[in-house]
Amino acid sequence: MSAGGEPTDGWRLPVAYDRSGRIFGEAELTELAEVLAAGALTRWGGEKADAFEREWAARLGVPYAVAVSSGSAALHVALAVLDLPPGTEVITSPVTDMGTVIGIVCAGLVPVFADVDPATGLVTPETVAACLGPRTRAVLPVHLHGRCADAAGLARLADRHGLALVEDASQAHFARRAGVAAGTTGVFGCFSLQQSKVVSCGEGGVLVTADRQLAEQARIFQNKGWLRGESGAQAYPLLGVNYRMGELAAAVARAQLHRVETILQRRRASYAVVAGCLRDDPDVRVLGERPDEYASWWCLAIQCDWLPDLATARRLMSALHAEGLPFALGGIGPDPIYRVEAIRGKRTPGGARLPWSLPGAADHDYDALHHPGAQWFLTHTLTLNWNEGITVSDAERVADGIRRAVAAVRVTPEHQERHVR
Ligand SMILES: Cc1ncc(COP(=O)(O)O)c(C=O)c1O
Repeated sequence: MSAGGEPTDGWRLPVAYDRSGRIFGEAELTELAEVLAAGALTRWGGEKADAFEREWAARLGVPYAVAVSSGSAALHVALAVLDLPPGTEVITSPVTDMGTVIGIVCAGLVPVFADVDPATGLVTPETVAACLGPRTRAVLPVHLHGRCADAAGLARLADRHGLALVEDASQAHFARRAGVAAGTTGVFGCFSLQQSKVVSCGEGGVLVTADRQLAEQARIFQNKGWLRGESGAQAYPLLGVNYRMGELAAAVARAQLHRVETILQRRRASYAVVAGCLRDDPDVRVLGERPDEYASWWCLAIQCDWLPDLATARRLMSALHAEGLPFALGGIGPDPIYRVEAIRGKRTPGGARLPWSLPGAADHDYDALHHPGAQWFLTHTLTLNWNEGITVSDAERVADGIRRAVAAVRVTPEHQERHVR
């Protein structure tokens, strides 16, 4: 180590934000060249977005996919076309990206946050059931870090209460639980194709559904509400947005999808090496798969039960950074997503506080929420973006770095005694 703590031999962990951690190669170039040669960069007239949708749907075994411009857009489109009464509520996770909440709020719906299982960071049928109320209309679980929430259990709960189930599978492309892929149980499954995601085109998204009519509505809504007939005549049955995926993005997404087996296999192999190296370490737990699960590891997640307070968790994060491992506390910081200013302050344009201010909507006080599961998870879990560039030997270094960082920060009672004397 250098005085600053960085590894001195030039080793750098491959990251998802440049070519060190991504495979963008000949296949992507060929697809891109075909788009440029054809000259249609918008999906109208091109073939790539159509092909990507067909192939994404086929790989998940669902009838319909609609490509859009981001994961946030996919969630907005899904919730908008469900046509739920404005100001009604969607129960979701407080351990998620802002995009989940943006999708809900932009559809005129109020987010309600359920607690999570502290061991996984996932909402459960029990934590969601505890939030049901007279305004609840949908449940939106987030499949986190490449793992699946209990979509079957949540679907049963949703069915019992007449609610729509919409899955946010942005972080869990092709992960499976009991043989069922993330995003394929609910009425809609939504995915982000942003730079760090398992299948990526830089910025993009896609939603899937088995419902032909809803797929058609989604297609219209994300195309400015334009019902594009054979003649190209302009009919606008509803007001929509322009969230269309362009052909260049679709070309890359398609090539990535063709190589997804390699991507998944590499992510899983290197993750297994870290888990194996740390299996017997009593001071750190690598989050792993359930027996019926196939994870697609968007993140490496570790938990340390012994962390006594936030200050120590932050010291551990710094020690990991000094090892060249840019772990993030909780993945999103130590606070649930509803503690960010935009949500707690309901900062919408013009101070309108929409949708919370709609007649009949509840003006939730998110500051008053107490979610012990989420609080524990976010202050005892550290995550590191995983990627297909990480080799077995990188993974061994990651495990060594974690071990050293934990040893440097772990204060045992014996340690403390020595310090007090
Ligand atoms: C769980 C989750 N939902 C939604 C999003 C939003 O996706 P995008 O950034 O493509 O809008 C993300 C992106 O990180 C995410 O992780």
